Amino acid sequence: MPWLLAFLVSVARPVKIYDASNYSAATSDTSASCRVLYWPQTSRKSGPLPQGAADFFDIIVTDDVKQAPWLGAEGKMYFLEDRNFPLGDLSRELAQLKEAAPIEWRREGMSVFLPAGDAHRQEREEAQILMPASYFIDDGTFETRHRAFKNFTFSVLLMLDYDVGTPPQSLVDCMSHGTVPIIIGKHHKIDYTRYFSYALVKFRDFSVEQAINFMLTAPADALYVYANSVKIVQEFFYMRYRHPFHLRLQRHAQMACHALKSPAPALAFVAIYSAKKNFGRRMALRDTWLPLLKAHGLSHKFFLAGTEVDDRSEVDSLLRRERDVFDDMVFLTGTTDEYPIGRKGLAAVLWAAHNTEAQFWLKFDDDLYVRPHLLLNRLASLQRAELYWGAFDYSGMVVRDLSDPHYTPYDVWPEPVFPAYARGAALAMSMDLVRLIAEHEEKQPFKKIRVEDVSYGFYLWQLTYDRKVTSVTIFDRDEDHFAMDAKCCTEATHPNNCWLPLNEKTWIAHHVTPSTIRCMFAKDLGSGFYTPSSSEARSMTGLLAEMAAFDSHVQSATGTIQGGKIPTSGAGPPADLCGCVVTPPAHPGKPLQRGGMTELSSGPKLHVG
Ligand SMILES: *[C@@H]1O[C@H](CO)[C@@H](O)[C@H](O)[C@H]1NC(C)=O
Ligand SMILES: *[C@@H]1O[C@H](CO)[C@@H](O)[C@H](O)[C@H]1NC(C)=O
Repeated sequence: MPWLLAFLVSVARPVKIYDASNYSAATSDTSASCRVLYWPQTSRKSGPLPQGAADFFDIIVTDDVKQAPWLGAEGKMYFLEDRNFPLGDLSRELAQLKEAAPIEWRREGMSVFLPAGDAHRQEREEAQILMPASYFIDDGTFETRHRAFKNFTFSVLLMLDYDVGTPPQSLVDCMSHGTVPIIIGKHHKIDYTRYFSYALVKFRDFSVEQAINFMLTAPADALYVYANSVKIVQEFFYMRYRHPFHLRLQRHAQMACHALKSPAPALAFVAIYSAKKNFGRRMALRDTWLPLLKAHGLSHKFFLAGTEVDDRSEVDSLLRRERDVFDDMVFLTGTTDEYPIGRKGLAAVLWAAHNTEAQFWLKFDDDLYVRPHLLLNRLASLQRAELYWGAFDYSGMVVRDLSDPHYTPYDVWPEPVFPAYARGAALAMSMDLVRLIAEHEEKQPFKKIRVEDVSYGFYLWQLTYDRKVTSVTIFDRDEDHFAMDAKCCTEATHPNNCWLPLNEKTWIAHHVTPSTIRCMFAKDLGSGFYTPSSSEARSMTGLLAEMAAFDSHVQSATGTIQGGKIPTSGAGPPADLCGCVVTPPAHPGKPLQRGGMTELSSGPKLHVG
């Protein structure tokens, strides 16, 4: 039998990384290793990759967005760029200082940063005359960039007047100084993060006079938006470039190679947090979109608080029976379902770290309607390492009231605002980060915040800044695919009261009841987005009847339950889901009418500190 075992066990292939200096050696490498070629745009200067050479590699890492999308992957091509963030923590201080400066001061601080060489001669001459003390010529050193950006609120980056796909180091340095870049040209590709386009000024053409004029007349509101967006973008670059590049390259190579293992690891492991009595929600998910995950080779588990073993709890014994029937539940001993469930969140992360080989950890709440393959297609197109995906909150207020369940002491987190975190309804992390959290928690426990979703951001923050063991890439560009408080509206119908509505782009609808979930699934079946599979006639008997005694939503699991599957071809469009939700009338500037949410400029919040 031993040979059979050897056959079945998938051995991790060692990862070998080649670059322009030694890639030709890969052609004679006959070992079973996973061969990775690091081939940045600068390698091209020493000659193109010879015809056919790419075939010798399993993975090619590049910083050329024409070969692999920004933060993404396509076939064997993976995107990764070598940049750094030398300013470190000083970046936040500078941004604060500039934001706090009087508006007149801010209006005066502009520099011009020019490339070396003869291009832009006219602009240089103009700058020499009009602003002799604040124009700088790039000599490729950080020192010069530091002088060019440090004391200025805005900086005209004249080297960026071509279509760049990868952020130039000068742009990263500019933003790291809390300085708003002014760039010239069309720049189709500049959307490195969701807030990037708010953090810079775009001019079609350039003259010094025009730039000065812009600064003097920009409304105070605009300056406020720039300052805040720059801070968000700054943090994005800081987290992404925190770890030394050669270590990042190794991690990305390892995770990309892991994805190629045979048999192939699942793209994601799906964790759905559920409370014990949410029988109706679990049934609604099992009857609608959860089976679609199986078609993708994914497995899921509901995560619940631990059960009591003394047999006194009727609910707990019913839950154990539910698990025996569906085999998709995990009871986390020592945790509770009482919000803010930070402890349960950590236990679920540790469980995933130890129990799955999938490439991503995907976490959902149990009150969601999800269109899984749209989301999974996105994950499949992203980098496999250092990734933190979701709808991010950049302004989570810290609660200092001791009696509040969300209380956070100063010695755990001193700032008034939490580090960026993906809102808990739906988020993903690449598995290297999940394992790193588990490894570090087990070696030396993290500082803890009680709120579940904030916690993940805070663990990653500690790994990145305190423990300096990783970079993290915040992928926040999919927020428009979330409907956070499912309603159908537009800015026109609900001014200032229509944050992330339900529309044709929605992948995830949050705060939906079991009957709404079933209604949405039926609509998607109706539009041909899914095709019917098996159906089942159910009545309120047996397990269902017992569940219904605790949760009346189980009612919706009776009658004819029509399953669906993803058509292999000729799929219809995602259905219009508006008929399934109630959209309250517009109340401009007033809190939302349901869900206990308070509407802030950053979106609805359940708890306002
Ligand atoms: C290729 O050269 C780089 C240094 O440029 C080195 O780090 C790497 O280990 C070499 N790869 C192999 C497989 O020898
Ligand atoms: C920046 O400001 C400091 C004082 O805050 C000053 O000493 C320094 O010369 C200024 N640098 C430039 C390049 O203007």
